[in-house]
Amino acid sequence: MTLASFDFKLHPRLVFGLGEIKQLGDLAKGLGFTKTLLVADSGLVKAGHVAQATTLLEASGIVVTHFQDFSENPDTNMVEHGRQVAAKSHVDSIIGLGGGSSLDCAKAINFVHCGGGNMRDYWGHNKATHPLLPMIGVPCTTGTGSEAQTYALISDAETHIKMACGDDRAAFRIALLDPELAVSQPHSVRATAGYDAISHAVETFVTTKRNAVSDAFSRQSWRLLSRAFPKLILEPGNMEAVGEMQLGAWFAGCAIEASMLGATHATANPLTARYGTAHGAAIAVMLPHVVEWNQLRQYEQLAPHLSQHLADLAMLAGLPGSLKELNVPSEDLPLLAQAAAEQWTGRFNPRTFDAAAALALYQRAY
Ligand SMILES: [Fe+2]
Repeated sequence: MTLASFDFKLHPRLVFGLGEIKQLGDLAKGLGFTKTLLVADSGLVKAGHVAQATTLLEASGIVVTHFQDFSENPDTNMVEHGRQVAAKSHVDSIIGLGGGSSLDCAKAINFVHCGGGNMRDYWGHNKATHPLLPMIGVPCTTGTGSEAQTYALISDAETHIKMACGDDRAAFRIALLDPELAVSQPHSVRATAGYDAISHAVETFVTTKRNAVSDAFSRQSWRLLSRAFPKLILEPGNMEAVGEMQLGAWFAGCAIEASMLGATHATANPLTARYGTAHGAAIAVMLPHVVEWNQLRQYEQLAPHLSQHLADLAMLAGLPGSLKELNVPSEDLPLLAQAAAEQWTGRFNPRTFDAAAALALYQRAY
């Protein structure tokens, strides 16, 4: 691996620390924001984070327009609605505040607001034809890693297919990580988002696209997440664990930019598309089986008996352990395997991944 060529781009400026949210107004002003679209889901409104962010931005003379009409899995219609709000208010910047859905929605609105068309036109890599508005990403869950990535995951409202739309121009200018914003996340989010981040660390560590830099990010991410996740599950108010989870998720997000993901995400995504299973719950069911099936000695560098360790972490967090628990009918497995084989990310799995492989994995996980 040491002589393999690569081109590693590290995108956003990272601002981290307890109480650093107070800098939001100054940071936005420093980037020249005057009218901004604040994309934040309704859960964040209830938690008071939106009011706090609005106050800070307004104190710096920035006019704030809110957009919150999207769900956990933002789709093409929701993005179009956001574009209309952005156009009406003539915004010059966008802030994504919340979980992965808020951050992905912010990027997606930026694509269509600046380049026209709809999200299908941006499916794939570097499809934007115009410069995008500057953005700040403020994650309020411990897991997404979306703040470190140039990809937005948006569902097609008609086909329900999850489209990965990425472009170097869709990178946040600044990612602002403040543990205080994430400590209040509900248990279900803490468990699913945290486990998803763990799977990002494990998957990026072994893909065929990994390189010397992503390797360092994957290892550091695993080191932080594997220690902080059980701590946070048992002690949700542990601020240090929240901070470690945030940083671990950010490191994993950086690794994904270069390394992509593997068979876990390829088999998990059809479960979300077909049954609406939360992303992290689908990941929890599949990850230990993929690790066992890949049969790589390399995993031992992370932990001995990694698949068992991962299954134990999922159980500790109360996450589902089988497809049966997710109420997946066994007769659906061949169909799911077909859909999994079409997932782009499966191509980067270290062991060749196709429909037969996906079926074998679903059967193990049933
Ligand atoms: Fe994920």
